[in-house]
Amino acid sequence: MDEVLLSVRGLRTEFVTRDGVFAAVRDVSFELRRGEKLGIVGESGSGKSALALSIVGLIEPPGRVVAGEVELNGRRISGLPDRQLQLVRGKEVGLIFQDPMAALDPVKSIGDQIVEGIRRHRRHLGRREARRLAIELLREVQVPFAERRLADYPHQYSGGMRQRVMIAIALANEPDLIIADEPTTALDVTTQAQVLDLLDRLVSERRTAIILITHNLGIVAEFCDSVHVMYAGRFVERTTVEQLFRAQAHPYTEALLRSVPRPDRLQRGPLPSIPGFPPSLAHLPPGCSFAPRCPAAQEICRDRAPATVELVSESTPVLAECHFARERLRT
Ligand SMILES: Nc1ncnc2c1ncn2[C@@H]1O[C@H](COP(=O)(O)OP(=O)(O)OP(=O)(O)O)[C@@H](O)[C@H]1O
Ligand code: SF4
Ligand SMILES: [Mg+2]
Repeated sequence: MDEVLLSVRGLRTEFVTRDGVFAAVRDVSFELRRGEKLGIVGESGSGKSALALSIVGLIEPPGRVVAGEVELNGRRISGLPDRQLQLVRGKEVGLIFQDPMAALDPVKSIGDQIVEGIRRHRRHLGRREARRLAIELLREVQVPFAERRLADYPHQYSGGMRQRVMIAIALANEPDLIIADEPTTALDVTTQAQVLDLLDRLVSERRTAIILITHNLGIVAEFCDSVHVMYAGRFVERTTVEQLFRAQAHPYTEALLRSVPRPDRLQRGPLPSIPGFPPSLAHLPPGCSFAPRCPAAQEICRDRAPATVELVSESTPVLAECHFARERLRT
């Protein structure tokens, strides 16, 4: 088994607003190994992006990481000064976000942005060499006429091409970890498949680990090895992709999958909607946060928050936060 690359312990992130304190990430702990492809799924507002941003120190006010530790390659990165965190991002961790326009500088050419990204972390490289590398990277992410397009500005690229540029920048320094938050949502199906192939190649060639945040269960089924289901700031179920589609320990996972019960029948598209709404993260119900929407809820669920139960199903570990997880997997 590959070594642990990322270790997150007790991470808690809050947004303090006039309407209250929203606990977007609530005491989340997990580990990620080299070469692992982890999918994080959950409805809108469940805290997926807040978690990703908290890991790399990019939470901005009114948000704040109030507790927890993040270790990367055995070194604590949480709480590092911003300058050092900037070095971690872009060198050890590559970030790909849904909206490439937000990440790219509109007044700098694509070439300059990639070259800067490379030279920030590899100062010994001359401009010419960095430029050659930039062209190579653009070719690798299949930007046609890479050499010619280096001088273009972000607005001259299509949405799909901008996304590839962001991926090229994320890959520029061969990071150990890539965090991709809805990286393919804005792309057409063919481009989506190419981007995922590219990420897949990185994993097999360089043992890069990937955290893929997505609404799309089809992508999780095709791409990921393991999956964490997020609800109201917590992981309510964690297991392998195969196990998740075989049997769901948590009623929320079951609800997510209900209209797409088998991976081979999965439609590419958003998560099916579940009756009711997620709770406000500023006013969580006592007991299980899924109880108001859970068809299996009992008296105990409204009184007591479920602890994490560790189970094994068909030789596969499953962690679930439901009072009845054990019984559910047995049936
Ligand atoms: N800037 C902010 N100000 C106040 N609250 C915020 C802010 N950003 C996030 N939150 C809180 O954090 C929660 C989680 O938001 P987050 O963006 O992580 O959700 P998400 O799972 O990524 O959703 P989506 O699938 O829509 O991207 C929100 O429901 C909200 O309560
Ligand atoms: S603990 Fe109760 S309410 Fe929560 S998911 Fe399990 S059965 Fe549903
Ligand atoms: Mg998000």
